[in-house]
Amino acid sequence: MTDALHFDPNTGIAAIGVQLPPLAMDVRELAALRGVDPDKYTLGLGCDEMALCPEGYGVVDLAVGAAKRALAQWGGSVEDIGLLVVGSESAVDMSRPLSAFVAEELGLRGRIRSYETKHACYGGTVALRQALEWRLSGAARGKAALVIASDVALYAPKDPGEPTQGAGAVAMIIAEPKVARIATESFAYAEPAFDFWRPVGDSFPSVEGKLSLDCYKKATEECFQQLVGDRTPADALADFAAVCFHVPFPKMVKKAVGQLGESFEWTPEATSSFYEGMVNPTMDWNRKSGNGYTASLWISVAQALAGRAAGQRIGAFSYGSGFGSELLVIEAAEGAAAAPWADEVAEDLKSRRLVSQDEYDALRGARLAAAE
Ligand code: CAA
Repeated sequence: MTDALHFDPNTGIAAIGVQLPPLAMDVRELAALRGVDPDKYTLGLGCDEMALCPEGYGVVDLAVGAAKRALAQWGGSVEDIGLLVVGSESAVDMSRPLSAFVAEELGLRGRIRSYETKHACYGGTVALRQALEWRLSGAARGKAALVIASDVALYAPKDPGEPTQGAGAVAMIIAEPKVARIATESFAYAEPAFDFWRPVGDSFPSVEGKLSLDCYKKATEECFQQLVGDRTPADALADFAAVCFHVPFPKMVKKAVGQLGESFEWTPEATSSFYEGMVNPTMDWNRKSGNGYTASLWISVAQALAGRAAGQRIGAFSYGSGFGSELLVIEAAEGAAAAPWADEVAEDLKSRRLVSQDEYDALRGARLAAAE
């Protein structure tokens, strides 16, 4: 089947680095602490473990860790980087970009454009698109881009969103497409909404849970309908081996796929088969990281690319509250099969420590005190 998508032979993902923090909590432990039936968190929301940062460790450490891994894998020199963009909604300063904190640690300075992007969980995807389009425009003059999506997702203690917390970072070198190619065309949709926001000075976000689900579902439908265009959904999706989503928590993704099935006029069985075959298997790492906000989609894409044969196609649906969304089409290249980043994730998961209820309470108390 042919389509109108174009994949530039010289630009794509050259390397991927994923970094998870050294602590986590089983959501069943959190349920016990909060006096909630654990099935609500595991079956009701689809969560398993939430990654947590120890005191003194945060969004910059995650970003730097992921970047170092991507750079080591790439094998190029920092001298060859002409663009550094960090997408995040865990900004540490209203003025100084997160990229400056990261650049300091990486020793990146000189003839380089460096900045931060913010659009809730969509910020990392915006960073990636800008890097891709910077390369394709010719402005890059052959230089590579380092794109990082990094976040720490925390809600107020006892907030209903608490079991969906998480943390993580994904860094990607945008240069020659050794690991994956990205279609030049993408499918975006945005509408202003107050579904999830964090006013200046507030430590935790405010969420209109039902509205955020409605916005997320609408965004999914709008983006995928653009991909389908005047073809049938079956034809448009026939080439895909996996479809990744931004994962606030897995149940939300399942509901969005349900909406997609309705809009495609699929039978419940067809929708379920699409979810179980193409979507659910891409969320194993998300179930261990929890919501990584900007990193969430890219954690799923990193997992979906790992071990993939060259030429296989992946959908990547990005959503950020406020709201903005975009569907990207990614094709695995020769370097996806070896996937060194998958070993690093396995190592992070093996070496991290699960905290007890008391430790979690202490950790949250320390963070709250630091924020005051
Ligand atoms: N056993 C099994 N299932 C159970 C259960 C039990 N004992 N008890 C409850 N459940 C199920 C419920 O039936 C429900 O499932 P369905 O939705 O399929 O009906 C599910 O568990 C959740 O239950 P509730 O709706 O009662 O939960 P709640 O009111 O406590 O809300 C929440 C929890 C859905 C996580 C809510 O806090 C919320 O909406 N949070 C925010 C959502 C969110 O993350 N929005 C942002 C999206 S985008 C993003 O990531 C932000 C960004 O851009 C920065």
